[in-house]
Amino acid sequence: MKIRKAVIPAAGRGTRLERITLVTAKELIPLVDRPAIDWIVKEATDSGIEEICIVTSANKLASLFAHTEGLDIPVTYLIQSSPKGLGHAVLVAQDWCGDDPFAVLLPDDFVLDDPILSRLITQATSTKHSALALTEVPDSKTDQYGIADGQVSDGVVAIRNLIEKPTRGNAPSNLSVTGRYVLRPEIWPLLNAVKPGAGGEIQLTDALIELAQAGVLDGLVTKGSRHDLGSAKSWLTANIAYGVEVYGQAWLDGVRANINESKSS
Ligand code: G1P
Repeated sequence: MKIRKAVIPAAGRGTRLERITLVTAKELIPLVDRPAIDWIVKEATDSGIEEICIVTSANKLASLFAHTEGLDIPVTYLIQSSPKGLGHAVLVAQDWCGDDPFAVLLPDDFVLDDPILSRLITQATSTKHSALALTEVPDSKTDQYGIADGQVSDGVVAIRNLIEKPTRGNAPSNLSVTGRYVLRPEIWPLLNAVKPGAGGEIQLTDALIELAQAGVLDGLVTKGSRHDLGSAKSWLTANIAYGVEVYGQAWLDGVRANINESKSS
């Protein structure tokens, strides 16, 4: 099973970085030397993806299009007319995906030092299950993510249930859904049947629960570091981590020495 297609839901407004996202789409915020979306597209092409569909809002279309026009992969744009949630954004791409299995990459979620999408594709190909990425988070953060319940063996989780943003104390584990998925066409009837859930939105998680309960959803635990571009602090941290990736550790040591020097003078 070759996974050729990837959907990138990019309609979110980026409210936690509002002073910046008022003037630029959050997917175009720089991560070191290029817009964030470039890293996502590179991750997709590095994993064998050959066609991308970006689902965005009408008001972000022009700037995203202007940017991705120069990329070395065919990109189709579809409009999500109103922000009804991640599940709804994926549904917008149903006709584009057709009967093919496809990847989904959330463009504000980054995993460094782990080819997680390639690993998910290998997993989904060998098991004929759908698969998603999971990252351990502390108890204080389980209410920010979808949380998986399942049996872990050798870094593979046989997911039995998922809860979208459980209230504190109600998370079944510390394994948080991370924005990389490989989905098979069986998802479509399930997603079409989903009713508004957490936050009044059509949640992808609610369709994935059905796959989990049928025993056909695997999780792979991420190995590198995970970065979220949604808040100022986490965006800065991501820039430092990716800066080390691009410029090497010596660059960071130099920055630190420079700051220490100016503070002590
Ligand atoms: C979405 C998913 C959630 C997942 C998260 C990862 O939530 O619904 O399950 O853990 O992405 O970033 P969102 O961040 O869009 O609210």
